[in-house]
Amino acid sequence: MKAAVLYEAGQPIQVEDVSIENPHAGEVMVRVAAGGVCHSDLHVMNGDLTAPLPIVLGHEGAGVVEKVGEGVADFKPGDHVVLLWRASCGQCQYCLSGRPALCEMGTGIRWSGNLSDGTSRFQRGDRVIHHHAGVSAFSELTVLPREGLVKIDPSVPIEKAAIVGCAVMTGVGAVINTARVEPGASIAVIGCGGVGLNAIQGGNLAGAEKIIAVDVLENKLGYARQFGATHTVNAGEVDAIESVKELTGGRGVDYAFEVIGNPRTIVQAYQMIRRGGTLVVVGVAPMGAQVAINASSIMLDEKTIRGSLYGSCNAKLDAPRLLNLYKAGKLKLDELISREYPLEKINDAFDALRHGEVARSIVRFS
Ligand SMILES: NC(=O)c1ccc[n+]([C@@H]2O[C@H](COP(=O)([O-])OP(=O)(O)OC[C@H]3O[C@@H](n4cnc5c(N)ncnc54)[C@H](O)[C@@H]3O)[C@@H](O)[C@H]2O)c1
Ligand SMILES: [Zn+2]
Ligand SMILES: [Zn+2]
Repeated sequence: MKAAVLYEAGQPIQVEDVSIENPHAGEVMVRVAAGGVCHSDLHVMNGDLTAPLPIVLGHEGAGVVEKVGEGVADFKPGDHVVLLWRASCGQCQYCLSGRPALCEMGTGIRWSGNLSDGTSRFQRGDRVIHHHAGVSAFSELTVLPREGLVKIDPSVPIEKAAIVGCAVMTGVGAVINTARVEPGASIAVIGCGGVGLNAIQGGNLAGAEKIIAVDVLENKLGYARQFGATHTVNAGEVDAIESVKELTGGRGVDYAFEVIGNPRTIVQAYQMIRRGGTLVVVGVAPMGAQVAINASSIMLDEKTIRGSLYGSCNAKLDAPRLLNLYKAGKLKLDELISREYPLEKINDAFDALRHGEVARSIVRFS
């Protein structure tokens, strides 16, 4: 079967034949229907974010269960599933304390590139190929731990469900779960790509009064308005911090969401929040990068800085909920998918992401 493999950072992805082993006990094989093209994969391709290489990329996707391993009773062939890039075991300290996005099992899978038993199901010749975050959605078939899947309503178009696997869960979740934005609040979203547009939608769902979208590309600000931004700021043309302050009576916003992963915009976002406000960092900065924030202002202004991993979600609860909101016409998914690519064109899909051409694109399997 065909899969998209990254051998080395800085090199193009190779679409090639890879062999896949049957699911081991507790695992599920999925025929992937669509995989979303997220900047976190681009960070791995650039080397800004490390991952065990070679790797089958793709961490956002949905598909249909093909077969199940021994002891899997909760999934059966034919089930429609969203693939989760952070499996949650339900038993570790983080899962038990209501923070499954920090699950020790899922975290172990991410950094080892192997499934829970320490081995990979992908191979090419003699060479072991790793799993990306336990998902590897850019592959005709993939194997996940049963803890990394959530069953969904088969009446939802499966390619729409795919983007819930990362962009929607992360962006909406940052606003609803991490920040717990309250009705009437003001928010700024810095970076209006696939994830940022969902933070904007999250702001709408939460009843935020002002939703200020900040980006350097006019097409992204256009998408932002379509997704419910009340104001837009082109940070390439004006001073973004001053503009956000002007729009909020000189004080700054209650919440700012940095959805780029740039130390400079993280500091900018901190400066955009009012005294007592909260900065939520969603963007993935290059590993080892530091931010310098005025130390006394943290105390004097009582500011909060929070990280948001996977929208601090409880994915098994949140994914079906988000899809119900889509069915009820309260969450935009159709408008998010600007383009579809066949697997063979995956490098073009990442070029389009790199150049800011799309809201989100997907790789669609026939
Ligand atoms: N926290 C998480 O769990 C999580 C999950 C998924 C993605 N991410 C990260 O979120 C970030 C966004 O992902 P995405 O897929 O939406 O990426 P994207 O490339 O679609 O969007 C990034 C946006 O930022 C804008 N931008 C770049 N530089 C800017 C600047 N200086 N000022 C203002 N805007 C600027 C770009 O024009 C683009 O619209 C990435 O870093 C990604 O790795 C984090
Ligand atoms: Zn992602
Ligand atoms: Zn756990």
